[in-house]
Amino acid sequence: MELIEVINQRRTVRDFSKEKVPYEIIEKTLEVGLKAPSYNHLKQWDFILVKEQNIRLALTKTEEMIESVTDELKQIFEKHDTLAKDMYLEAIPKQKKMILTAPELLVIVYKPKTQVGESKRVYDLNCLASVWCCIENILLSFAENQVYGVTFVPKNTSLVKRILNIPEELEVAAIIPFGYMQPNSKIITQKKVKLESRLHINNW
Ligand SMILES: Cc1cc2nc3c(=O)[nH]c(=O)nc-3n(C[C@H](O)[C@H](O)[C@H](O)COP(=O)(O)O)c2cc1C
Repeated sequence: MELIEVINQRRTVRDFSKEKVPYEIIEKTLEVGLKAPSYNHLKQWDFILVKEQNIRLALTKTEEMIESVTDELKQIFEKHDTLAKDMYLEAIPKQKKMILTAPELLVIVYKPKTQVGESKRVYDLNCLASVWCCIENILLSFAENQVYGVTFVPKNTSLVKRILNIPEELEVAAIIPFGYMQPNSKIITQKKVKLESRLHINNW
């Protein structure tokens, strides 16, 4: 596949079929993740594949997960632009289900240069920027194999760390449920941005 085809193919998917993803695809994908650029060339990233259902259940209990679209929820996103509102109303009720039912669950762990609360400059967040380069490589490599994922960013990472026995000095970047797409899986309309509205030459 051409790179541009892979980039277009990658979309966030939250409804998965039951089909298992062959381990060779997972292994190749994580190796592609490890090829991403990283600050100081450190690549301080680890991956946890969560197989046990009771661990998944515990992860869903680390924060409130709303399972249906309520009037209150609609109200919260009333003033958002249509695409963002559609995305939230589609995504929020699926967070718990996708973590519990995706055929695979991948947790991405990284070593923070500076703890989030102590970060004062963009430079202090280079570790977070780097791990997201790794995550994008992973999502693209999956897409090349018609495997899809969704990056769930947990709010309470200290609880997630405790459940997964992650060393204190490390941090969780994202939890990625992934697998093959369910035939009727809803893919929201992707926002289109015109380059000329964002490109500035020499200065703003
Ligand atoms: C940093 C980041 C955090 C995200 N967090 C979540 C999340 O917690 N739950 C979720 O369902 N999707 C999450 N997403 C996925 C976005 O909703 C999705 O990328 C966006 O709607 C655009 O859709 P696309 O990926 O198909 O282009 C996240 C994406 C990014 C880059």
